[in-house]
Amino acid sequence: MAEHGASPVTVHKAIRQLSVLGLVDSRPGVGTFVRTVRPARPADYGWQTSALGARSVRVAGLSSTQRASVPDAIQLHSGYPARDLLPERMVRAALARASRTEAALTRSPVAGLPELQAWFASQLAATASAGVTPPSARDVLVIAGSQSGLSSVFRALVGPGQPLLVESPTYWGAILAAEQVGVTLVPVPSGAHGPDPDDVDRAFASTGARAFYAQPTFANPTGTQWSPDTGRAVLDVVRARGAFLVEDDWAHDLSIDAEPRPLVGQDEDGHVVYLRSLTKSVSPALRVAAVVARGPAHDRILADRAAETMYVSGVLQAAALDVVTQPGWPAHLRGMRHQLHARRELLLESVQAHAPQVHVEHVPVGGLNVWARLPDGTDVGQLVRECETRGLLLAPGTEWFPAEPSGPFIRLNFSGENPSRFPEAGEVLGNALRTLA
Ligand SMILES: Cc1ncc(COP(=O)(O)O)c(C=O)c1O
Repeated sequence: MAEHGASPVTVHKAIRQLSVLGLVDSRPGVGTFVRTVRPARPADYGWQTSALGARSVRVAGLSSTQRASVPDAIQLHSGYPARDLLPERMVRAALARASRTEAALTRSPVAGLPELQAWFASQLAATASAGVTPPSARDVLVIAGSQSGLSSVFRALVGPGQPLLVESPTYWGAILAAEQVGVTLVPVPSGAHGPDPDDVDRAFASTGARAFYAQPTFANPTGTQWSPDTGRAVLDVVRARGAFLVEDDWAHDLSIDAEPRPLVGQDEDGHVVYLRSLTKSVSPALRVAAVVARGPAHDRILADRAAETMYVSGVLQAAALDVVTQPGWPAHLRGMRHQLHARRELLLESVQAHAPQVHVEHVPVGGLNVWARLPDGTDVGQLVRECETRGLLLAPGTEWFPAEPSGPFIRLNFSGENPSRFPEAGEVLGNALRTLA
């Protein structure tokens, strides 16, 4: 305190931090002592090479969307929204309230808090077609983020060595989850209005697959939505083939120009297994989502969840439920929609003005991303590295393809920090493309 002119509180905080870093030991009643520094010895991990054998999963390490950001870089690579898009006050208040409930000290049911199950079910009831019985609260399983739900669904309903139809391009995390389960991916091309139902039918027929993973609403990466006709026709094919449609409604709350129309609302025989996530609209820190399934499929997924995680933290479930049932929640969603619209427009204008070589085929009607095609022959990996050295982080489109990419693409996320830097991002992208041309 004397040497640095600091208060006792500051010194106490500094000592706590040193202790957390393992640099000092505090012994009550004796004092605080500097730990002896052990000389670092390089460990020998060579034995793991033969213990682990060859890698069976194609994607090595983390996706480029998950890489840590460099300070001051413009981040168009990540998949989660920045803080100013989130209902920060509601989340903080909900967490404080949740910490005072029973949920803070008890374990939750495997399928989730009944009130939260009921909320997810009520959301589906609101969009169900007339005459169709929507899923009930009993059909809802609360999960810690839909990513882990994808793994469970692929494990429980498809299984190792079995084929699974997927749109191409599709979400890299679904490709990764499927590959980790050992599922064989069968790509079906998908465009502005979704896949061609005849292509889906042919793929079912030629592979004997019994499941199709798809994003009919605001797909990641393209931001497109299936037309109602495509949705109906694909559901007909799925029914006729006695198969499942795994509907990933990750961006339900992220609409910009269109309303979500979940296909699960047209199904009552358990063909649609539905995933809905709150991590992008409530908070990435409240990892709460749901998988909705009926019949024996529900029981198989439930058993998988129980084996994998037993249950989701009740505090997170209670807080998420608190946020989505606040009177301010609909206003938050409306505000988010306006902000996403403004951000999308600014990014599109910035790319058009400074990187006219980049072609955006579809303006995303929802979601958080612009999917952009680069001039033919562009080396996407080299472009991403070139942009990174100039302070712009991008996601290479390669990761969204279950097989070879159909062209050179990048994904630009418009929900990150600091949209005022989008014009600068456009300039960096344009200059990097000119350098590589
Ligand atoms: C299509 C899609 N599905 C699932 C997820 C996983 O979301 P979470 O695990 O955060 O619910 C994401 C995340 O970006 C996504 O884009």
